[in-house]
Amino acid sequence: MASIAIIGTGYVGLTTGACFSHLGHDVVCADIDADKVRRLSQGEIPIVEKGLDRLVDEGLRSGNLSFVVGAAEASKQAEFHYLCVPTPQGTDGAADLSYLEAAAAEIGPVIPDDSVVVNKSTVPVGSTRVVARVLGRSDVAVVSNPEFLREGTAVADFLQPDRVVIGSQDQEAAIRVAALYSRIAAPIMVTDPVSAETIKYASNAFLASKLSFVNAMATLCEAVGADVNDVVLGMGYDSRIGREFLRPGPGWGGSCFPKDTKALAKIAEDAGYNFRFLDEVLLINDEQFDRTAQKVIDSVESNLVDTHVAALGLTFKAGTDDLRDSPAIEVLQRVRDAGIQVKAFDPAVLPGENRLATVQPGLDIEVVSDPYAAAEGAASLVILTEWDEFSWLDFDKLAEIMTGKNIVDARNLLDPTIPRRRGFNYRGIGR
Ligand code: UDX
Repeated sequence: MASIAIIGTGYVGLTTGACFSHLGHDVVCADIDADKVRRLSQGEIPIVEKGLDRLVDEGLRSGNLSFVVGAAEASKQAEFHYLCVPTPQGTDGAADLSYLEAAAAEIGPVIPDDSVVVNKSTVPVGSTRVVARVLGRSDVAVVSNPEFLREGTAVADFLQPDRVVIGSQDQEAAIRVAALYSRIAAPIMVTDPVSAETIKYASNAFLASKLSFVNAMATLCEAVGADVNDVVLGMGYDSRIGREFLRPGPGWGGSCFPKDTKALAKIAEDAGYNFRFLDEVLLINDEQFDRTAQKVIDSVESNLVDTHVAALGLTFKAGTDDLRDSPAIEVLQRVRDAGIQVKAFDPAVLPGENRLATVQPGLDIEVVSDPYAAAEGAASLVILTEWDEFSWLDFDKLAEIMTGKNIVDARNLLDPTIPRRRGFNYRGIGR
Protein backbone atom coordinates (compact mmCIF):
# COMPACT_ATOMS: atom_id res chain seq x y z
CA MET A 1 0.00 0.00 0.00
CA ALA A 2 1.05 3.63 -0.47
CA SER A 3 2.08 6.50 1.79
CA ILE A 4 -0.22 9.49 1.36
CA ALA A 5 -0.05 13.00 2.77
CA ILE A 6 -3.36 14.88 3.01
CA ILE A 7 -2.91 18.64 3.12
CA GLY A 8 -5.95 20.22 4.77
CA THR A 9 -8.32 18.42 7.15
CA GLY A 10 -11.58 20.11 6.22
CA TYR A 11 -14.58 18.25 4.94
CA VAL A 12 -12.79 16.93 1.81
CA GLY A 13 -9.37 16.28 3.38
CA LEU A 14 -10.63 14.53 6.50
CA THR A 15 -12.98 12.29 4.50
CA THR A 16 -10.28 11.52 1.90
CA GLY A 17 -7.65 10.74 4.55
CA ALA A 18 -9.92 8.55 6.65
CA CYS A 19 -11.15 6.63 3.60
CA PHE A 20 -7.68 6.12 2.15
CA SER A 21 -6.50 4.78 5.53
CA HIS A 22 -9.56 2.48 5.56
CA LEU A 23 -8.41 1.19 2.17
CA GLY A 24 -5.09 0.22 3.77
CA HIS A 25 -2.87 3.14 2.84
CA ASP A 26 -0.54 4.86 5.31
CA VAL A 27 -2.02 8.34 5.68
CA VAL A 28 -0.69 11.44 7.42
CA CYS A 29 -3.08 14.43 7.47
CA ALA A 30 -1.78 17.96 7.99
CA ASP A 31 -3.51 21.11 9.12
CA ILE A 32 -2.21 24.54 10.10
CA ASP A 33 -4.43 24.59 13.20
CA ALA A 34 -2.52 22.86 16.02
CA ASP A 35 -5.57 22.67 18.26
CA LYS A 36 -7.59 21.02 15.49
CA VAL A 37 -4.74 18.53 14.91
CA ARG A 38 -4.71 17.71 18.62
CA ARG A 39 -8.45 17.11 18.68
CA LEU A 40 -8.37 15.01 15.51
CA SER A 41 -5.51 12.94 16.96
CA GLN A 42 -7.85 12.17 19.84
CA GLY A 43 -10.60 11.12 17.44
CA GLU A 44 -12.69 14.29 17.83
CA ILE A 45 -14.50 14.91 14.54
CA PRO A 46 -15.56 18.55 14.01
CA ILE A 47 -18.03 17.81 11.20
CA VAL A 48 -21.25 15.78 10.92
CA GLU A 49 -20.49 13.00 8.44
CA LYS A 50 -22.05 9.54 8.74
CA GLY A 51 -19.40 6.89 9.41
CA LEU A 52 -16.47 9.30 9.47
CA ASP A 53 -15.85 9.02 13.21
CA ARG A 54 -15.68 5.22 12.92
CA LEU A 55 -13.13 5.39 10.09
CA VAL A 56 -10.98 7.95 11.91
CA ASP A 57 -11.07 5.80 15.07
CA GLU A 58 -10.20 2.72 13.01
CA GLY A 59 -7.26 4.51 11.35
CA LEU A 60 -5.92 5.91 14.61
CA ARG A 61 -6.08 2.46 16.23
CA SER A 62 -4.45 0.69 13.27
CA GLY A 63 -1.75 3.36 13.11
CA ASN A 64 -2.23 4.09 9.41
CA LEU A 65 -3.94 7.41 10.06
CA SER A 66 -2.26 10.25 11.91
CA PHE A 67 -2.50 14.03 12.14
CA VAL A 68 0.35 16.55 12.20
CA VAL A 69 0.79 20.31 12.11
CA GLY A 70 2.08 21.71 8.82
CA ALA A 71 2.07 20.38 5.27
CA ALA A 72 5.85 19.88 5.15
CA GLU A 73 5.69 17.59 8.19
CA ALA A 74 3.15 15.35 6.47
CA SER A 75 4.76 15.43 3.04
CA LYS A 76 8.40 14.78 3.83
CA GLN A 77 7.93 10.97 3.87
CA ALA A 78 4.95 10.52 1.54
CA GLU A 79 4.76 9.31 -2.06
CA PHE A 80 1.40 10.99 -2.80
CA HIS A 81 0.45 14.49 -1.68
CA TYR A 82 -3.28 15.30 -1.79
CA LEU A 83 -4.03 19.04 -1.78
CA CYS A 84 -7.38 19.38 0.02
CA VAL A 85 -7.15 23.03 0.99
CA PRO A 86 -10.00 25.55 0.64
CA THR A 87 -10.52 27.19 -2.76
CA PRO A 88 -13.01 29.88 -1.71
CA GLN A 89 -14.81 32.13 -4.14
CA GLY A 90 -12.84 35.29 -4.89
CA THR A 91 -14.50 38.70 -5.20
CA ASP A 92 -14.67 38.37 -9.01
CA GLY A 93 -16.35 34.94 -8.83
CA ALA A 94 -13.15 33.09 -9.66
CA ALA A 95 -11.79 30.58 -7.15
CA ASP A 96 -9.11 31.94 -4.81
CA LEU A 97 -6.00 29.74 -5.22
CA SER A 98 -3.90 31.34 -2.50
CA TYR A 99 -4.21 28.39 -0.10
CA LEU A 100 -3.41 25.93 -2.89
CA GLU A 101 -0.31 27.87 -3.93
CA ALA A 102 0.82 28.25 -0.32
CA ALA A 103 0.53 24.49 0.24
CA ALA A 104 2.45 23.74 -2.97
CA ALA A 105 5.18 26.23 -2.01
CA GLU A 106 5.52 24.61 1.43
CA ILE A 107 5.82 21.01 0.22
CA GLY A 108 7.83 21.64 -2.98
CA PRO A 109 11.23 21.69 -1.26
CA VAL A 110 10.60 18.64 0.95
CA ILE A 111 8.63 16.05 -1.03
CA PRO A 112 10.63 12.96 -2.00
CA ASP A 113 11.83 12.36 -5.56
CA ASP A 114 9.22 11.09 -8.03
CA SER A 115 6.34 12.08 -5.74
CA VAL A 116 2.89 12.67 -7.18
CA VAL A 117 1.00 15.80 -6.11
CA VAL A 118 -2.78 15.51 -6.47
CA ASN A 119 -5.37 18.30 -6.63
CA LYS A 120 -8.42 17.00 -4.75
CA SER A 121 -10.07 20.34 -3.96
CA THR A 122 -12.27 21.85 -6.62
CA VAL A 123 -9.88 24.05 -8.56
CA PRO A 124 -10.22 26.15 -11.70
CA VAL A 125 -9.40 24.68 -15.05
CA GLY A 126 -5.63 24.85 -15.53
CA SER A 127 -4.71 24.65 -11.83
CA THR A 128 -2.44 21.64 -12.24
CA ARG A 129 -0.13 23.92 -14.23
CA VAL A 130 -0.27 26.50 -11.42
CA VAL A 131 0.66 23.89 -8.80
CA ALA A 132 3.47 22.50 -11.00
CA ARG A 133 4.92 25.99 -11.43
CA VAL A 134 4.84 26.71 -7.70
CA LEU A 135 6.30 23.28 -6.81
CA GLY A 136 9.22 23.90 -9.14
CA ARG A 137 10.03 20.18 -9.30
CA SER A 138 10.51 18.59 -12.74
CA ASP A 139 10.62 15.11 -11.16
CA VAL A 140 7.15 15.55 -9.61
CA ALA A 141 3.93 14.90 -11.55
CA VAL A 142 0.80 16.95 -10.72
CA VAL A 143 -2.51 15.14 -11.18
CA SER A 144 -6.14 16.23 -10.94
CA ASN A 145 -8.42 13.84 -8.97
CA PRO A 146 -11.57 15.87 -8.26
CA GLU A 147 -13.92 14.95 -5.41
CA PHE A 148 -17.63 14.29 -5.94
CA LEU A 149 -18.58 14.09 -2.26
CA ARG A 150 -22.01 15.19 -1.03
CA GLU A 151 -22.28 16.48 2.52
CA GLY A 152 -23.96 13.95 4.76
CA THR A 153 -22.96 11.01 2.55
CA ALA A 154 -19.29 11.85 1.93
CA VAL A 155 -17.89 8.54 3.24
CA ALA A 156 -20.27 6.47 1.11
CA ASP A 157 -19.61 8.73 -1.87
CA PHE A 158 -15.86 8.16 -1.50
CA LEU A 159 -15.99 4.38 -0.94
CA GLN A 160 -18.82 3.68 -3.44
CA PRO A 161 -18.34 6.43 -6.05
CA ASP A 162 -20.13 6.56 -9.40
CA ARG A 163 -16.72 7.13 -10.92
CA VAL A 164 -13.12 8.11 -10.14
CA VAL A 165 -11.74 10.81 -12.44
CA ILE A 166 -7.99 11.22 -12.89
CA GLY A 167 -6.50 13.98 -15.01
CA SER A 168 -2.79 13.73 -15.89
CA GLN A 169 -0.38 14.41 -18.75
CA ASP A 170 1.85 11.71 -17.25
CA GLN A 171 0.44 8.26 -17.96
CA GLU A 172 2.60 6.56 -15.34
CA ALA A 173 1.48 9.04 -12.64
CA ALA A 174 -2.15 8.44 -13.60
CA ILE A 175 -1.66 4.69 -13.20
CA ARG A 176 -0.03 5.22 -9.80
CA VAL A 177 -2.97 7.35 -8.59
CA ALA A 178 -5.48 4.87 -10.04
CA ALA A 179 -3.82 2.12 -8.01
CA LEU A 180 -4.75 3.97 -4.78
CA TYR A 181 -8.37 3.10 -5.61
CA SER A 182 -7.69 -0.55 -6.47
CA ARG A 183 -10.03 -1.78 -3.69
CA ILE A 184 -12.92 0.39 -4.89
CA ALA A 185 -15.42 -1.07 -7.36
CA ALA A 186 -16.06 1.89 -9.66
CA PRO A 187 -15.13 3.00 -13.18
CA ILE A 188 -11.80 4.84 -13.20
CA MET A 189 -11.58 7.41 -15.97
CA VAL A 190 -8.20 8.82 -17.02
CA THR A 191 -8.10 12.00 -19.05
CA ASP A 192 -6.02 15.15 -19.29
CA PRO A 193 -5.92 17.57 -16.32
CA VAL A 194 -8.00 20.31 -17.97
CA SER A 195 -10.75 17.85 -18.86
CA ALA A 196 -10.73 16.38 -15.34
CA GLU A 197 -11.07 19.83 -13.76
CA THR A 198 -13.82 20.69 -16.24
CA ILE A 199 -15.73 17.47 -15.44
CA LYS A 200 -16.01 18.60 -11.82
CA TYR A 201 -17.38 22.05 -12.59
CA ALA A 202 -19.62 20.76 -15.38
CA SER A 203 -21.11 18.11 -13.09
CA ASN A 204 -21.97 20.55 -10.32
CA ALA A 205 -23.24 23.23 -12.68
CA PHE A 206 -25.40 20.65 -14.50
CA LEU A 207 -26.91 19.45 -11.22
CA ALA A 208 -27.61 23.04 -10.21
CA SER A 209 -29.17 23.62 -13.63
CA LYS A 210 -31.39 20.58 -13.16
CA LEU A 211 -32.62 22.03 -9.88
CA SER A 212 -33.23 25.48 -11.30
CA PHE A 213 -35.21 23.84 -14.10
CA VAL A 214 -37.32 21.94 -11.53
CA ASN A 215 -37.88 25.06 -9.46
CA ALA A 216 -38.88 27.04 -12.55
CA MET A 217 -41.25 24.20 -13.51
CA ALA A 218 -42.73 24.43 -10.01
CA THR A 219 -43.52 28.09 -10.62
CA LEU A 220 -45.14 27.21 -13.96
CA CYS A 221 -47.09 24.38 -12.32
CA GLU A 222 -48.56 26.87 -9.86
CA ALA A 223 -49.54 29.12 -12.78
CA VAL A 224 -51.23 26.37 -14.81
CA GLY A 225 -52.60 24.31 -11.89
CA ALA A 226 -50.38 21.26 -12.26
CA ASP A 227 -48.81 19.31 -9.39
CA VAL A 228 -45.05 19.51 -9.75
CA ASN A 229 -44.56 16.34 -7.71
CA ASP A 230 -46.52 14.39 -10.32
CA VAL A 231 -44.80 16.27 -13.15
CA VAL A 232 -41.29 15.35 -11.95
CA LEU A 233 -42.42 11.80 -11.19
CA GLY A 234 -43.63 11.48 -14.76
CA MET A 235 -40.39 13.01 -16.05
CA GLY A 236 -38.18 10.74 -13.96
CA TYR A 237 -39.40 7.54 -15.61
CA ASP A 238 -37.41 8.64 -18.64
CA SER A 239 -33.98 7.09 -18.04
CA ARG A 240 -32.39 10.06 -19.82
CA ILE A 241 -33.80 12.35 -17.11
CA GLY A 242 -33.62 10.03 -14.11
CA ARG A 243 -35.45 10.25 -10.79
CA GLU A 244 -32.69 11.91 -8.76
CA PHE A 245 -32.34 15.61 -8.10
CA LEU A 246 -35.90 16.54 -9.12
CA ARG A 247 -37.21 17.78 -5.76
CA PRO A 248 -38.34 21.43 -5.90
CA GLY A 249 -37.37 23.57 -2.94
CA PRO A 250 -36.71 27.09 -1.64
CA GLY A 251 -33.71 27.20 -3.98
CA TRP A 252 -30.43 25.31 -3.88
CA GLY A 253 -27.31 26.16 -1.84
CA GLY A 254 -24.41 24.73 0.09
CA SER A 255 -20.70 25.40 0.02
CA CYS A 256 -20.29 24.02 -3.52
CA PHE A 257 -23.11 24.61 -5.98
CA PRO A 258 -23.22 28.42 -5.75
CA LYS A 259 -19.42 28.75 -5.70
CA ASP A 260 -18.79 26.23 -8.48
CA THR A 261 -21.57 27.48 -10.76
CA LYS A 262 -20.31 31.06 -10.47
CA ALA A 263 -16.72 29.88 -10.95
CA LEU A 264 -17.63 28.04 -14.14
CA ALA A 265 -19.36 31.14 -15.50
CA LYS A 266 -16.18 33.11 -14.72
CA ILE A 267 -13.94 30.45 -16.29
CA ALA A 268 -16.10 30.68 -19.42
CA GLU A 269 -15.96 34.48 -19.44
CA ASP A 270 -12.16 34.44 -19.07
CA ALA A 271 -12.02 31.93 -21.93
CA GLY A 272 -14.11 34.24 -24.12
CA TYR A 273 -17.44 32.42 -23.91
CA ASN A 274 -20.50 34.15 -22.42
CA PHE A 275 -22.15 31.23 -20.61
CA ARG A 276 -25.51 33.04 -20.39
CA PHE A 277 -27.25 29.76 -19.56
CA LEU A 278 -25.47 29.63 -16.18
CA ASP A 279 -26.34 33.25 -15.46
CA GLU A 280 -30.00 32.28 -15.87
CA VAL A 281 -29.56 29.19 -13.66
CA LEU A 282 -28.20 31.43 -10.91
CA LEU A 283 -30.91 34.07 -11.47
CA ILE A 284 -33.72 31.51 -11.23
CA ASN A 285 -32.22 30.35 -7.94
CA ASP A 286 -32.22 33.86 -6.50
CA GLU A 287 -35.80 34.27 -7.70
CA GLN A 288 -36.71 31.05 -5.91
CA PHE A 289 -35.45 32.56 -2.66
CA ASP A 290 -37.59 35.65 -3.40
CA ARG A 291 -40.71 33.64 -4.26
CA THR A 292 -40.43 31.44 -1.19
CA ALA A 293 -39.93 34.47 1.06
CA GLN A 294 -42.91 36.19 -0.56
CA LYS A 295 -45.11 33.18 0.22
CA VAL A 296 -44.08 33.45 3.86
CA ILE A 297 -44.65 37.20 3.92
CA ASP A 298 -48.06 36.82 2.23
CA SER A 299 -49.02 34.16 4.78
CA VAL A 300 -48.68 36.58 7.69
CA GLU A 301 -51.75 38.80 7.72
CA SER A 302 -50.26 42.28 8.17
CA ASN A 303 -52.71 43.24 10.94
CA LEU A 304 -51.30 40.68 13.34
CA VAL A 305 -49.31 42.54 16.00
CA ASP A 306 -46.52 40.93 18.11
CA THR A 307 -46.53 37.75 16.14
CA HIS A 308 -43.84 35.91 14.27
CA VAL A 309 -43.11 33.19 11.73
CA ALA A 310 -41.96 29.76 12.89
CA ALA A 311 -39.14 28.56 10.62
CA LEU A 312 -38.30 24.84 10.59
CA GLY A 313 -34.84 24.26 9.12
CA LEU A 314 -31.73 26.43 8.85
CA THR A 315 -29.14 24.07 7.30
CA PHE A 316 -28.70 24.00 3.51
CA LYS A 317 -30.10 20.49 3.38
CA ALA A 318 -31.08 17.74 5.80
CA GLY A 319 -28.42 15.36 7.15
CA THR A 320 -25.76 18.02 7.68
CA ASP A 321 -25.12 20.85 10.14
CA ASP A 322 -23.72 23.12 7.41
CA LEU A 323 -25.24 26.60 7.21
CA ARG A 324 -23.03 27.91 4.41
CA ASP A 325 -25.06 29.39 1.54
CA SER A 326 -28.20 27.88 3.00
CA PRO A 327 -31.43 28.57 1.06
CA ALA A 328 -33.22 28.68 4.42
CA ILE A 329 -31.06 31.57 5.53
CA GLU A 330 -31.51 33.37 2.20
CA VAL A 331 -35.30 33.15 2.64
CA LEU A 332 -35.30 34.16 6.30
CA GLN A 333 -33.13 37.19 5.60
CA ARG A 334 -35.79 38.36 3.15
CA VAL A 335 -38.57 37.69 5.67
CA ARG A 336 -36.73 39.71 8.30
CA ASP A 337 -36.11 42.52 5.77
CA ALA A 338 -39.91 42.68 5.45
CA GLY A 339 -40.05 43.42 9.19
CA ILE A 340 -41.42 40.03 10.28
CA GLN A 341 -40.06 38.38 13.42
CA VAL A 342 -38.75 34.81 13.13
CA LYS A 343 -38.30 31.98 15.59
CA ALA A 344 -36.34 29.10 14.05
CA PHE A 345 -35.60 25.51 14.94
CA ASP A 346 -33.11 23.15 13.29
CA PRO A 347 -32.04 19.81 14.84
CA ALA A 348 -28.42 20.52 13.85
CA VAL A 349 -28.28 24.08 15.21
CA LEU A 350 -28.18 24.75 18.96
CA PRO A 351 -29.73 27.95 20.41
CA GLY A 352 -27.00 30.43 21.27
CA GLU A 353 -24.25 29.01 19.07
CA ASN A 354 -22.62 31.65 16.87
CA ARG A 355 -22.41 29.76 13.56
CA LEU A 356 -25.47 31.57 12.27
CA ALA A 357 -23.93 34.98 12.97
CA THR A 358 -20.79 33.81 11.18
CA VAL A 359 -22.54 32.84 7.95
CA GLN A 360 -25.14 35.63 8.01
CA PRO A 361 -24.03 38.57 10.14
CA GLY A 362 -26.98 40.72 11.13
CA LEU A 363 -29.65 38.06 10.63
CA ASP A 364 -31.77 38.83 13.68
CA ILE A 365 -33.76 35.66 14.37
CA GLU A 366 -34.34 33.66 17.55
CA VAL A 367 -33.14 30.04 17.45
CA VAL A 368 -35.13 27.76 19.78
CA SER A 369 -34.73 24.18 20.91
CA ASP A 370 -37.80 22.50 19.42
CA PRO A 371 -40.32 23.04 16.61
CA TYR A 372 -43.25 23.71 18.97
CA ALA A 373 -41.32 26.41 20.84
CA ALA A 374 -40.92 28.09 17.46
CA ALA A 375 -44.62 27.62 16.62
CA GLU A 376 -45.98 28.96 19.96
CA GLY A 377 -47.87 32.14 19.05
CA ALA A 378 -46.78 32.03 15.40
CA ALA A 379 -48.96 33.39 12.60
CA SER A 380 -47.35 31.09 10.10
CA LEU A 381 -45.01 28.08 9.93
CA VAL A 382 -42.51 27.53 7.11
CA ILE A 383 -40.57 24.33 6.41
CA LEU A 384 -37.23 25.25 4.79
CA THR A 385 -35.05 22.13 5.29
CA GLU A 386 -36.27 18.60 4.63
CA TRP A 387 -35.45 17.09 8.03
CA ASP A 388 -37.48 13.90 8.35
CA GLU A 389 -38.83 14.89 11.80
CA PHE A 390 -40.74 17.76 10.16
CA SER A 391 -42.83 15.16 8.32
CA TRP A 392 -44.37 14.07 11.63
CA LEU A 393 -45.52 17.39 13.13
CA ASP A 394 -48.54 17.22 15.47
CA PHE A 395 -51.00 19.53 13.68
CA ASP A 396 -53.59 19.24 16.46
CA LYS A 397 -51.00 20.70 18.82
CA LEU A 398 -49.93 23.30 16.24
CA ALA A 399 -53.56 24.38 15.78
CA GLU A 400 -53.75 25.01 19.54
CA ILE A 401 -50.53 26.97 19.96
CA MET A 402 -50.34 29.01 16.75
CA THR A 403 -52.21 32.32 16.35
CA GLY A 404 -52.53 31.85 12.56
CA LYS A 405 -53.19 28.67 10.61
CA ASN A 406 -50.75 29.09 7.75
CA ILE A 407 -48.22 26.55 6.51
CA VAL A 408 -45.62 27.24 3.80
CA ASP A 409 -44.00 23.92 2.92
CA ALA A 410 -40.96 24.97 0.86
CA ARG A 411 -39.79 21.37 0.51
CA ASN A 412 -43.14 19.73 -0.33
CA LEU A 413 -42.40 17.51 2.64
CA LEU A 414 -46.00 17.18 3.88
CA ASP A 415 -49.11 15.49 2.60
CA PRO A 416 -51.25 18.63 2.19
CA THR A 417 -54.43 16.81 3.31
CA ILE A 418 -53.08 16.45 6.87
CA PRO A 419 -52.79 20.19 7.74
CA ARG A 420 -55.79 21.05 5.55
CA ARG A 421 -57.98 18.55 7.44
CA ARG A 422 -57.19 20.55 10.58
CA GLY A 423 -58.13 23.83 8.99
CA PHE A 424 -54.66 25.01 8.02
CA ASN A 425 -54.06 27.04 4.88
CA TYR A 426 -51.31 24.96 3.24
CA ARG A 427 -49.04 26.27 0.47
CA GLY A 428 -46.35 24.09 -1.08
CA ILE A 429 -43.96 24.62 -3.98
CA GLY A 430 -45.50 23.93 -7.37
CA ARG A 431 -48.69 22.39 -6.08
C1 UDX B 1 -22.89 18.85 -4.14
C2 UDX B 1 -22.77 17.78 -5.22
O1 UDX B 1 -23.93 16.95 -5.17
C3 UDX B 1 -21.52 16.93 -4.96
O2 UDX B 1 -21.38 15.97 -6.00
C4 UDX B 1 -20.31 17.87 -4.96
O3 UDX B 1 -19.12 17.13 -4.74
C5 UDX B 1 -20.47 18.92 -3.88
O4 UDX B 1 -21.68 19.66 -4.10
P1 UDX B 1 -23.68 19.04 -1.63
O5 UDX B 1 -23.32 20.47 -1.77
O6 UDX B 1 -23.28 18.29 -0.42
O7 UDX B 1 -23.06 18.21 -2.91
O8 UDX B 1 -25.26 18.98 -1.70
P2 UDX B 1 -26.37 18.32 -2.62
O9 UDX B 1 -26.87 17.12 -1.96
O10 UDX B 1 -25.90 18.23 -4.02
O11 UDX B 1 -27.52 19.47 -2.53
C6 UDX B 1 -27.17 20.76 -2.99
C7 UDX B 1 -28.39 21.66 -2.81
O12 UDX B 1 -29.43 21.23 -3.70
C8 UDX B 1 -28.98 21.62 -1.40
O13 UDX B 1 -29.38 22.93 -1.02
C9 UDX B 1 -30.19 20.72 -1.55
O14 UDX B 1 -31.23 21.00 -0.62
C10 UDX B 1 -30.64 21.06 -2.95
N1 UDX B 1 -31.43 20.00 -3.59
C11 UDX B 1 -30.84 18.79 -3.84
C12 UDX B 1 -32.75 20.27 -3.96
O15 UDX B 1 -33.26 21.37 -3.73
N2 UDX B 1 -33.46 19.28 -4.58
C13 UDX B 1 -32.93 18.06 -4.85
O16 UDX B 1 -33.63 17.22 -5.41
C14 UDX B 1 -31.58 17.80 -4.46
